[in-house]
Amino acid sequence: MRSKLKTNRDFNGVNDKLYFLVKEYIELIGVDRITQNLIEVQQVIEYLKNRKFNKYADVGLSFSGSLWLYANLLCSETANVWGIDIRVMNSTATIIKDTLKKKGQSVKLIQGDSKYIGKQLKEKFDLVHIDAQHGYGDVSEDFFIYYNKLIKNGVIILHDTLLQQGCIQFRKELEKTHNIITFSSGEERTMGVSVVIKEEK
Ligand SMILES: C[S@@+](CC[C@H](N)C(=O)[O-])C[C@H]1O[C@@H](n2cnc3c(N)ncnc32)[C@H](O)[C@@H]1O
Repeated sequence: MRSKLKTNRDFNGVNDKLYFLVKEYIELIGVDRITQNLIEVQQVIEYLKNRKFNKYADVGLSFSGSLWLYANLLCSETANVWGIDIRVMNSTATIIKDTLKKKGQSVKLIQGDSKYIGKQLKEKFDLVHIDAQHGYGDVSEDFFIYYNKLIKNGVIILHDTLLQQGCIQFRKELEKTHNIITFSSGEERTMGVSVVIKEEK
C-alpha cells in the first residue's frame, strides 16, 4: 500500500519497486535528494531486463541518489560498488553505504576528480553511471576513461543527455559510432538517460 511521502515527486506511472526504494531512501536520509527521474530509471531497468551487475561505479555521487537506485535495482546482492565524487557528502553517503552493506553489497566511496580517479582505478567495471560535470569536454573525457575500464558487454549509463548542452552534443556524436539508446520521461524538461553497451570486438 502506497502512502504519501515527504517529497514533491510525482509517482504517476512509477512501479512499486521504485516507489518503495524512494520511500526507503527518504526514511534513511530524511529528505528526497535523488536527482533522477524515476520514469527514465524505470525505462533503463526494463531495457536491461534481467541483467545483474557485479562491479558498478557511480561517477558524480552527490547525495547518492543514483547509486542507491542502480545498486538496488541493477546490481547483484554481493556486488562491489564505487561512489566517486569531487566532494563526498559524508553523512548521506555513509548511511547509504552502511545500508547497502547490510544488504550484502560492498561500497567504496572515493573523493576526487572523476577523471583522475578513473585513470588510477585498477578495477574493470560492468556498469558505470556518469553524472558529474556536464560540459562537452568533461562528459566525453569521463565517458572514454570509464569506457576503457568496462568489460566487454558492460554498460555505461549517461545522465542529462536530453537536457544539458554538453551532454546532448556528446550523445549525438556517440549515436554515430556506438550502440546507444536514449530514454525520456516525455516531460517538457526531460533530463534524458542514455545507455551504451560496449560491443564485443
Ligand atoms: C548532478 S550531481 C549528481 C547527482 C547524483 N548522480 C544523483 O543521482 O543524485 C553532480 C555531482 O558531480 C560532482 N562532480 C562535479 N565535478 C566533478 C568531478 N570533476 N569529479 C567528480 N565529481 C564531480 C558534484 O560534486 C556533484 O555531486
